[in-house]
Amino acid sequence: MALLIAVAVMLGSQGCALGLIADRGSCPPPCRCLGDLLDCSRGDLHMVPDRLPGWAVQLDLSHNKLSSIKVSSMIHLYNLRELRLNRNDLKTIPNLGPLSANITLLSLTNNKIHVILPEHLEPYQSLETLDLSNNLITELKAPSFPVLRLKYLYINKNLITSMEPGAFDNLSATLQVLKLNKNRIGYIPPKMFKLSNLQHLELKRNRMRHVDGLTFQGLDVLKSLNMQRNGITRLMDGAFWGLSNMELLFLDHNNLTEISRGWLYGLLMLQHLHLGQNAISQISPDAWEFCQKLSELDFTFNELTRLEESSFMGLSLLGRLFIGNNQISNIADGAFHGLSNLNTLDLKNNEISWSIEDMNGAFSGLEKLKRLMLQGNRIGSITKKAFSWLDALEYLDLSNNAIVSMQSNAFSQMKNLQQLHLNSSSLLCDCQLKWLPQWLTENKLQKSVKANCAHPQSLKGKSIFAVSVDGFVCDDFPKPQITVQPETQSAIRGSNVSFICTAASSSDSPMTFSWKKDNELLNDAEMENYAHLRVQGGEVMEYTSILRLRDVEFDIEGKYQCVISNHFGTSYSVKAKLTVNMLPSFMKMPIDLTIRAGSTARLECAAVGHPTPQIAWQKNGGTDFPAARERRMHVMPEDDVFFIVNAKVGDTGVYSCTAQNSAGSISANATLTVLETPSFLRPLVDRTVSKGETTVLQCIAGGNPTPKVNWTKDDSPLVVTERHFFAAGNQLLILVDTDFADAGKYTCEMSNILGTERGNIHLSVIPNPTCDSPANATPSLEDDGWATVGVVIIAVVCCVVGTSLVWVVIIYTTQGEGMRIAVSLTQMKPTYL
Ligand SMILES: *[C@@H]1O[C@H](CO)[C@@H](O)[C@H](O)[C@H]1NC(C)=O
Ligand SMILES: *[C@@H]1O[C@H](CO)[C@@H](O)[C@H](O)[C@H]1NC(C)=O
Ligand SMILES: *[C@@H]1O[C@H](CO)[C@@H](O)[C@H](O)[C@H]1NC(C)=O
Ligand SMILES: *[C@@H]1O[C@H](CO)[C@@H](O)[C@H](O)[C@H]1NC(C)=O
Ligand SMILES: *[C@@H]1O[C@H](CO)[C@@H](O)[C@H](O)[C@H]1NC(C)=O
Ligand SMILES: *[C@@H]1O[C@H](CO)[C@@H](O)[C@H](O)[C@H]1NC(C)=O
Ligand SMILES: *[C@@H]1O[C@H](CO)[C@@H](O)[C@H](O)[C@H]1NC(C)=O
Repeated sequence: MALLIAVAVMLGSQGCALGLIADRGSCPPPCRCLGDLLDCSRGDLHMVPDRLPGWAVQLDLSHNKLSSIKVSSMIHLYNLRELRLNRNDLKTIPNLGPLSANITLLSLTNNKIHVILPEHLEPYQSLETLDLSNNLITELKAPSFPVLRLKYLYINKNLITSMEPGAFDNLSATLQVLKLNKNRIGYIPPKMFKLSNLQHLELKRNRMRHVDGLTFQGLDVLKSLNMQRNGITRLMDGAFWGLSNMELLFLDHNNLTEISRGWLYGLLMLQHLHLGQNAISQISPDAWEFCQKLSELDFTFNELTRLEESSFMGLSLLGRLFIGNNQISNIADGAFHGLSNLNTLDLKNNEISWSIEDMNGAFSGLEKLKRLMLQGNRIGSITKKAFSWLDALEYLDLSNNAIVSMQSNAFSQMKNLQQLHLNSSSLLCDCQLKWLPQWLTENKLQKSVKANCAHPQSLKGKSIFAVSVDGFVCDDFPKPQITVQPETQSAIRGSNVSFICTAASSSDSPMTFSWKKDNELLNDAEMENYAHLRVQGGEVMEYTSILRLRDVEFDIEGKYQCVISNHFGTSYSVKAKLTVNMLPSFMKMPIDLTIRAGSTARLECAAVGHPTPQIAWQKNGGTDFPAARERRMHVMPEDDVFFIVNAKVGDTGVYSCTAQNSAGSISANATLTVLETPSFLRPLVDRTVSKGETTVLQCIAGGNPTPKVNWTKDDSPLVVTERHFFAAGNQLLILVDTDFADAGKYTCEMSNILGTERGNIHLSVIPNPTCDSPANATPSLEDDGWATVGVVIIAVVCCVVGTSLVWVVIIYTTQGEGMRIAVSLTQMKPTYL
């Protein structure tokens, strides 16, 4: 096409004279012929001329005064495929009769068509391109298009305010490009587009203020979407959902204020995103989570003031980033981290100063950066560390910054640097700058450098290239030098804190002090500044600034830094950290608790403090306790509650909750008591003993509190004689020298506050004449299974003439608790002997 036009220009109006066209027959005036184009434009025609040559494949009737088309004058144009009727007076899409079916391109721009009716388009069964731009169409109704083979549809510059869902549905099989620029569309209804082959959609210069979620659903293969100049203020979450194949999105010249992942959701293939000339001031964290294929991002002319650590997180494929003409002053450490493929970074015309002057590698991570634009910022000094990481840089523009000083070899790691743009007439030409002219010349970089001295007075206005090497001398140090740095400290909440910073300078240029907290200037800081003369080593003025922070709260924690400037530059102190502490104090304290065995104990404990205290539990001063060991203990970190489930008697004890932070620790105690109803730890066993032997009846009781044990005989109170002994808190009833009268039913009753339990033992006594065998005197405790749980040794020394003492020694060991009870019944006088 472009070629044809070029030829047309060369040939001018003599085109028809060429043999090439003459073959096809005559070229009727006022038309011109060119190849298979019959150009009858600008002929002031009121009707289509008769006798148009039948060979015409393209017919241009633009710029005439046609208000209708006479079918008969066209009927013989069997070869016609493309028809242009731009700038005429047509009020409807013209009817070309049978010819319509062969037309592939119909251009009707700048007419007076105000409606698209399906019956007017129906005959155009071969139509691929339809241009209706610059007409008077006001709406797109649902039956507008019959089923056609349309691929390109342009309806720019009409008066469209509304579109009905489904208006384009009949074109879905073929439509590839749809342009609706410069209309008055304010709203796209849901399900508007079901165009499964559409690749490019343009909606520039309409009136969409908001874009709802799912607006573009149904455009599965769309590659580009153009929505510049709509005045869009808000993109709802999921605004572009469904455009998972889109590569280009143009949103320049709108009124967007924020980048958030909500509206970027689903743009999985997006490569270029253009957001220039909006009002964006914020890039939310994780904004790029769904568009990690981005290769070009344009934010020029927005309202960004800071770049956060997370601003570009995840954009590892980004190659070009344009953030020029914003108001950026603050670049967080690592803001560009992860942009490992970035090639071009444009930061021109921002307010960057300390981010370059005082930071360790603001550009860390930009290993592949080749072009960096920093012109038009507020950079006053350049240190070597400012550009660390930028080893691959080829092009660096620092022009239009009033640079005063440059540390020696600030650019020396940039082995590939080919262009350095610099213009400053503020340079401090002392010995520190001696390296610069030589280095620039050696590296052939002086061409785009304009660098003039401002100090010392003798060199003022001179180009650095005109100063001899010996001319750069250090007989003074006019730039502030920090001599006392602020110190890191911690303070108790409510106290007063101060930071001190001192600097010296040989110049009498006025010093200005400011303080920063976490890289942000403290605008209303309480400062005390004074100057004093330092005498040792020559007279030098020293300047001290004291920053006072009163009644400190936690929000005052941070890193504090003093910034001292004069005419010759700015010095930044170290960053001193302030921490504010508060001893923990209890919000909830555990209280004493008594519960039944098997139930759940709930102990509360919560404390506040700064830093947030850690809560820990102990039992009786130790951390290894049964509930913890047996996993019956649950700590709910959210609810400040500590549970012991299925409580056991062994859980009884003093529980201590300790709350600890770096300021100190506090603890609170609560006693947990687990109660248990009385129960027999051993089954009661009936006994048969020989007369004269010693009998031991056992009733081993469990429960908490320890049950009281009481014995009755034959349902009556036990008559206690001198032969009856009780041991182990009544759990053992010992009958010495058992008599027949002792036989009967013994009832053991044990009770504590939770209840009472009873059990019976039947004792039978059989005759046994011999009573002098020591073996028989030993009660047969082992027989009844006692030995499995403990050991009872009863030694009875009796029946021995001459011995008047009875010794009963019981050593009783219960399993489990490891408790030993030793009972000795000693020196009972056996009066019955
Ligand atoms: C359409 O084009 C075909 C092929 O060139 C031709 O045979 C036919 O006559 C044309 N139809 C009309 C109505 O001109
Ligand atoms: C689609 O085309 C058919 C016939 O070509 C027509 O009857 C119908 O109304 C059209 N539908 C829409 C939504 O335009
Ligand atoms: C953007 O918003 C501002 C103020 O809200 C308004 O003045 C301006 O005209 C808007 N710009 C566009 C392009 O709508
Ligand atoms: C640097 O050059 C630009 C354009 O050439 C000029 O506008 C600007 O004033 C110059 N800046 C300084 C500090 O010389
Ligand atoms: C902190 O300073 C204020 C104001 O000078 C003073 O009233 C207050 O007593 C000081 N507080 C402490 C803890 O020193
Ligand atoms: C809490 O109990 C522990 C151990 O049982 C004891 O050392 C401590 O003094 C008790 N603390 C308080 C506040 O009673
Ligand atoms: C033990 O039993 C006697 C007689 O039945 C009774 O009087 C006494 O109160 C009981 N003692 C306990 C502690 O139950």
